Amino acid sequence: MSTTHDAAPHESAPSPTIQPADGKLGILIPGMGAVTTTFIAGVEAIRRGMAQPIGSVTQLSTIRLGKRTDNNTPKIKDFVPLAKLEDLVFGGWDIYEANCYESALNAGVLEKTLLDSIKDPLSAIKPMPAVFDKNYVKRIDGPNQKPKGSKMDHAEMLLDDIRNFKERTGASRLAMIWCGSTEVFHRPAACHQTLDAFEEGLRKSDPEISPSQIYAYAALKSGIPYANGAPHLTVDAPALMDMARDRNICIAGKDFKTGQTLMKTLVAPGLKSRMLGVSGWFSTNILGNRDGEVLDDPGSFKSKEESKLSALEMILQPDMYPELYEHIFHKVRIEYYPPRGDAKEGWDNIDIFGWLGYPMQIKINFLCRDSILAAPLVLDIMLFMDLAQRSGMRGVQEWLSFFFKAPMTAPGLYPEHDLFIQLMKLKNTLRWMKGEQLITHLGREYYD
Ligand SMILES: NC(=O)c1ccc[n+]([C@@H]2O[C@H](COP(=O)([O-])OP(=O)(O)OC[C@H]3O[C@@H](n4cnc5c(N)ncnc54)[C@H](O)[C@@H]3O)[C@@H](O)[C@H]2O)c1
Repeated sequence: MSTTHDAAPHESAPSPTIQPADGKLGILIPGMGAVTTTFIAGVEAIRRGMAQPIGSVTQLSTIRLGKRTDNNTPKIKDFVPLAKLEDLVFGGWDIYEANCYESALNAGVLEKTLLDSIKDPLSAIKPMPAVFDKNYVKRIDGPNQKPKGSKMDHAEMLLDDIRNFKERTGASRLAMIWCGSTEVFHRPAACHQTLDAFEEGLRKSDPEISPSQIYAYAALKSGIPYANGAPHLTVDAPALMDMARDRNICIAGKDFKTGQTLMKTLVAPGLKSRMLGVSGWFSTNILGNRDGEVLDDPGSFKSKEESKLSALEMILQPDMYPELYEHIFHKVRIEYYPPRGDAKEGWDNIDIFGWLGYPMQIKINFLCRDSILAAPLVLDIMLFMDLAQRSGMRGVQEWLSFFFKAPMTAPGLYPEHDLFIQLMKLKNTLRWMKGEQLITHLGREYYD
């Protein structure tokens, strides 16, 4: 087969058989705060025709098939069989008792008039009692928690919750995504090395096992794909990664790529592609929502900082381009500032240098809305995870790196942070799933 087409030969691995998206898809969410309620309220509004799914790749993006001259560019949702918005049902857990309507009002992201018009479906979503440990999220506490017991007891209670939710809603498939608070930074310990050690740790209530890992374990044990919207460890450890692979379940993470890091992964690849140097990048932002309050704790901030710092380093590759990036000074700050609520403001000062080393500066002032940026990601990640699961894929879904600040990869592989490479990978994965030609953008045939 010729390799001069910009539509390249088919990938050698055979395309999977994709099971149809019949029936309801239940989306289970630990943490029903700003992001979750903005996501659920948004889906409710969109399926009533009250708003457009702006920011959602699954709902709006197109995908080119074949050669540019073929003029064949369907929407992604018409190309691969995704669950429909009408078929989504929602459930979740939180340490606060507020239902989804009340919690959305507290979050202050969406207008009350909009929330009032969908009050009934939102009020019907009441958080199940949470598995919570104050050692992992220090700044908050709430009454809606599971009764005392070992960590294994809590995992079993979550298994019951999942079973009951499925029966109650009649969902044919489920998927879980963590939208709870960011837990404190921790590294994989002995109990995270094998599934046996992890289960022993659950029975002994090993302090190294965090609540998010108990949810993830319950999801994997129930055969449900699990994605992590926060930067903490959860499934990024051998025991749970192996469990996902061995049981043919999809996992993905970590940390939604929104706000300042989204900007970073837009700008940094551009500077690098033109071989412009960077000597410093200072990022700071203020936010006043509950997420900001939790991140005010040094342990939770450390999880976030690691995730934010890694993106730039991985994109710029200072080892490969020492003359451009060897001495870069990169600093990230987050300041909790209650008056701003969810309307975050971020400032970036980027010191760059060009031809002969002459210095220049770029300033970015992004007045963003955190949950407005994150909500469509929750939808896209869940729909794609469900698609991957129905396609027989398993383990880390690196093709979903596009959505994450600190993408999970196979052990030993460095993550790809460049948004545009990530998008190409995502679309080529969809083409591969459907047995279409991959697209290389070579395009020599147009000039022959
Ligand atoms: N909004 C964004 O742009 C963005 C980007 C990247 C990552 N994130 C992450 O997404 C997560 C959610 O953000 P948010 O703005 O909705 O925060 P939020 O504080 O509004 O909501 C988090 C909710 O999780 C609950 N919670 C904490 N621990 C829990 C547990 N063990 N079980 C069940 N519930 C628990 C809290 O009570 C809270 O209601 C955070 O970890 C945040 O860092 C958000």
